[in-house]
Amino acid sequence: MKNLDERTITQAVIERNSLAENERLKDVMHSLVQHLHSFAREVQLTEEEWEIGVKFLTDVGQICSPTRQEFILLSDTLGLSTLVIAQNHKKPIGCTEATVFGPFHVKDAPHLSLGANMSEGINGTSWFVNGTIRGFDGQIIPHAEIEVWQADDEGFYDVQKQHLDVYQGRAVFHADRDGKYYFQTIVPEAYPIPHDGPVGKMLEALNRHPWRPAHLHFMISAPGYERLVTHVFKAEGDYLDSDAVFGVRTSLIANWLKHENGIAPNGIEQHEPFYTLDFDFILNKQKVEAVQ
Ligand code: BEZ
Ligand code: FE
Repeated sequence: MKNLDERTITQAVIERNSLAENERLKDVMHSLVQHLHSFAREVQLTEEEWEIGVKFLTDVGQICSPTRQEFILLSDTLGLSTLVIAQNHKKPIGCTEATVFGPFHVKDAPHLSLGANMSEGINGTSWFVNGTIRGFDGQIIPHAEIEVWQADDEGFYDVQKQHLDVYQGRAVFHADRDGKYYFQTIVPEAYPIPHDGPVGKMLEALNRHPWRPAHLHFMISAPGYERLVTHVFKAEGDYLDSDAVFGVRTSLIANWLKHENGIAPNGIEQHEPFYTLDFDFILNKQKVEAVQ
């Protein structure tokens, strides 16, 4: 393979990669090389632009840390995360839809009892969240694991706060035997995704804002059901039509009901206004893997 040129280089790379023993890797790389080369041809990529692209990806890598995942932000803001989720979670209408995972999940969130306050120690308006976990055919799913995480009322996640050595605004609950879950927290606000790095610069160059509408993250798992990663968004909030990461689905927008002071769902009198959310989740049955 010598004297490769504009016309012959693509096939040469594809042939070289075809020695891979992993068939899936071979197919993915074949397509990747073809699309990457087509892209460079289509836009007639210049050497200067190629350098800017390499520098951009280097910056994305260099800002990553255990608490900063700039590659996920890049995937999210390019709509790749939403595309991958949409094509991997096709399910019957009526099942709760999935949306982006985002970079603020942690693996070791505290396990709390139903009814507990997962935002102990954070200022904000009290919020009482509850609902039922069901299967598509209406049956109750008992004891599902429900992981919840959220920003505070200034739009920050605990992992973004320096010197905070406890988790706040996140917890793992287990639904009861009737599939019911309930917990207390504070009302989160809309917030900008981290935009002090290369992805922020990209959004600015594209004249795009970095904001996400107010939401609460859920990840729900139960044996025999597809794991659900989703959010519940606040109805009538800002940015529902321009989410920086393309994650809003109409079925996930709910009324976060405001109440004047009075008795809250936990039976305790509130001397300030508080909010409630009643949201049921419908899980899809796990796909049965084809026998090899
Ligand atoms: C989030 O909702 O936590 C999130 C999702 C995508 C990018 C940044 C943040
Ligand atoms: Fe979020």
